[in-house]
Amino acid sequence: MNRKLLIAVIVIVGLVVAYATGAISPSTTETISHTLHRSVNPDSLSAAHANLTGNCQACHTPVVGVDTAKCILCHANDESILQRQPTSFHASIGTCKECHREHQGLAAKLSKMDHSLLATIGMNSLAKADFGTQRQSTSTMIRDKLRIGMPPHNRITLEEATLDCASCHSNDDQHQSLFGTDCAQCHATDRWTIPEYKHPSPSSTNCNQCHQAPPSHYMMHFKMISATVAGKPHARVEQCNQCHQTTSWNDIKNVGWYKHH
Ligand code: HEC
Ligand code: HEC
Ligand code: HEC
Ligand code: HEC
Ligand code: HEC
Ligand code: HEC
Ligand code: HEC
Repeated sequence: MNRKLLIAVIVIVGLVVAYATGAISPSTTETISHTLHRSVNPDSLSAAHANLTGNCQACHTPVVGVDTAKCILCHANDESILQRQPTSFHASIGTCKECHREHQGLAAKLSKMDHSLLATIGMNSLAKADFGTQRQSTSTMIRDKLRIGMPPHNRITLEEATLDCASCHSNDDQHQSLFGTDCAQCHATDRWTIPEYKHPSPSSTNCNQCHQAPPSHYMMHFKMISATVAGKPHARVEQCNQCHQTTSWNDIKNVGWYKHH
């Protein structure tokens, strides 16, 4: 049994006994029942659900607790979550409350991403699935070939590293696919920045190993504008470092900040 519920039951039984034996008066019961109500009804709902405050059954079902089916009933037609790449997993996820905690006050943020939970759900359904349709549907979340051994770096857990990051984040890829689809190899799940990362020296000559030039660099624009602006009429596109620095792509070498118009 849920611990809070257990405590509530013990308190109620205690109250009934104390009241029946005349150990407490009606006025003390009122204070105690007020406290009890507050412990059962922990904190106010988020602003988005505030109008459901008087309707606990909208989300709770006796015995079941927080009822996923009820969340879905109201939210199944939320096109914007289903259409955005990173949140399209909502179409098949069978649980809600872990990432959408409630009763944390009116101003609390209702959504918090939990990648470990995704990994657990994916692993569980993989373990249950024979090689049928279910494996297919979870393969968008979990990499087909489960990694073994160590996580790729210590900012990510082995379990999280089984996720197929690109299936949800390829639109966030800043590397024009030059670094492949295995984002977990370098990234953690709590932020994209990598604290220990140091960019190669501005004097390195192989910028194009990690950077792709914009399409305009492969058109007339390159000779007519880019090379002219940079004062390097003979530089080839691959020689990024002839014209660029590592501060910003618009901070042109020996020219300064180039503004588009
Ligand atoms: C909009 C949906 C929603 C409504 C309406 C709602 N709750 Fe909840 N409630 C939740 C969610 C989600 C959790 C789980 C929160 C968590 O795990 O952090 C929860 C958790 C609880 C818990 C903790 C025990 C448990 O089941 O996890 C209690 C007690 C509770 N709610 C009481 C109430 C009462 C009393 C009301 C009516 C005044 C109410 N709730 C209305 C969504 C709701
Ligand atoms: C009776 C219908 C109803 C139920 C049941 C319900 N919701 Fe909602 N929910 C709403 C409405 C209405 C909004 C506000 C929508 C808006 O602002 O566009 C909302 C908003 C949300 C939001 C967005 C909050 C934000 O910050 O804008 C999330 C996430 C959410 N609900 C999750 C849940 C979860 C999880 C459950 C089950 C525990 C649940 N809802 C149960 C009606 C419901
Ligand atoms: C693994 C974590 C996770 C689970 C499980 C999950 N969600 Fe979400 N949900 C999110 C995240 C993250 C967002 C995006 C929030 C944002 O864009 O800021 C989101 C967005 C939403 C929104 C739109 C909120 C808005 O701002 O418009 C709704 C509604 C919602 N979820 C409902 C649900 C329901 C119903 C379930 C259960 C069937 C569920 N979620 C399960 C993580 C989760
Ligand atoms: C099933 C979809 C899904 C998978 C798989 C997934 N993510 Fe996410 N991730 C999300 C959602 C949803 C968010 C919330 C932000 C948003 O709505 O874009 C998010 C947020 C993030 C963020 C931003 C965190 C922040 O607070 O700024 C990072 C970083 C991230 N994910 C990395 C990863 C990595 C690395 C992997 C692979 C190990 C991965 N994700 C796998 C859905 C996914
Ligand atoms: C070979 C390693 C590597 C791989 C693989 C990789 N990245 Fe990166 N990524 C980096 C490095 C290094 C940075 C720079 C981090 C910094 O400046 O803190 C970065 C930066 C980013 C940023 C910008 C961070 C910021 O806010 O400045 C995003 C977003 C990002 N990567 C997404 C992805 C996605 C999505 C994938 C998978 C499709 C991916 N990356 C694969 C190494 C990698
Ligand atoms: C070993 C890989 C690697 C090499 C080599 C490399 N870079 Fe980078 N560079 C990155 C990564 C990773 C990032 C951060 C993610 C991103 O913006 O793509 C980055 C970011 C940048 C940025 C910032 C982009 C922005 O909008 O914030 C500039 C400018 C840049 N690099 C220029 C250069 C130049 C010029 C060279 C050659 C002198 C070079 N880089 C060589 C990996 C590399
Ligand atoms: C001959 C000089 C020259 C070379 C070589 C060159 N660029 Fe550029 N690049 C420019 C100039 C000038 C601009 C700003 C004006 C413009 O858009 O043409 C620019 C703009 C850019 C931009 C910004 C585009 C935007 O829309 O904001 C990126 C990114 C970029 N270059 C990447 C690269 C990469 C990567 C390479 C190497 C593979 C490269 N460039 C090679 C001169 C050069």
